[in-house]
Amino acid sequence: MKNFTSVKDIPGIEEALKVAFDVKKNKFAYQHLGKNKTMVLIFFNSSLRTRLSTQKAAMNLGMNTMVLNVGEESWQMESELGVIMDGDKPEHLLEAIPVIGQYCDVIGVRAFAKFKSREDDYSEKILNQFVKYAGVPVVSMEGATRHPLQSFADLVTIEEYKTKPRPKVVLTWAPHPRALPQAVANSFVEWMSKTDYDLVVTHPKGYELAPEFMGNVKVEYDQKKAFEGADFIYAKNWSSYTSYGQILSKDFGWTVNEEKMALTNNAKFMHCLPVRRNVVVSDGVIDSPNSIVVPQAANREVTAQAVLKMILENL
Ligand code: CP
Repeated sequence: MKNFTSVKDIPGIEEALKVAFDVKKNKFAYQHLGKNKTMVLIFFNSSLRTRLSTQKAAMNLGMNTMVLNVGEESWQMESELGVIMDGDKPEHLLEAIPVIGQYCDVIGVRAFAKFKSREDDYSEKILNQFVKYAGVPVVSMEGATRHPLQSFADLVTIEEYKTKPRPKVVLTWAPHPRALPQAVANSFVEWMSKTDYDLVVTHPKGYELAPEFMGNVKVEYDQKKAFEGADFIYAKNWSSYTSYGQILSKDFGWTVNEEKMALTNNAKFMHCLPVRRNVVVSDGVIDSPNSIVVPQAANREVTAQAVLKMILENL
């Protein structure tokens, strides 16, 4: 594998799962692969899980790691092409990216949607400049439209907790006070669509995800109906794709609570975290034995390590 920016980069779901379960069992068995190799992790946006799990995954493989929070610990970076740089950003990505590439063997980059333009966000302006100019493999640690490391961990978690070959997996929109990107939801749908799971997406009208991600995935606008018989409930807020970046609803009627979970087939509750308690999900649900958000987050280390292993084997 050269770069990892979407499910399209892995050799296949079955093969990727095999690698993930192998590294989970044999965490320190592949340190020879990363010896004298360095990973730089570049953050344009905040992180807890991605930063720590990816760094830990690289260290498990024997790599050295360096973390850079853009703007706080580096120059502010310009990403627009052809601009007159007389503003507050002294460095352009066109120089910064190949320079960073000189100091490492793999680059991880997190660059969220900016919500200024749907076209810019959906063209993955920053992430794709890294892929183009880094000269070394690039791992998406969440771009404007996808969060593939998260989705890979979600997949591993469902595989671990499923009790039937074809579980019903429901992705439900939930309210949030701020406008969030569609990346986690897009990516979750993209990865789940590669499985045989019975996938249903439920959200209020106006929150339809981009057709390129949804394809023929089932949408059920009645959240309670969607929850019926579900084996996994994955909650996530996203802002509107059609009315791009807007909050169309803050309806707490969409919060995942005990009453709705009672409609499911004793479903496990999932969320990528961070999560707003009693907005996205009630305390009662996230604190219940059916909540698997912590093992789900733990699998971030596993899948980051699987991805890095596949990249290192190809260097
Ligand atoms: N789920 C996730 O990506 O968490 P962080 O934003 O804390 O990295």
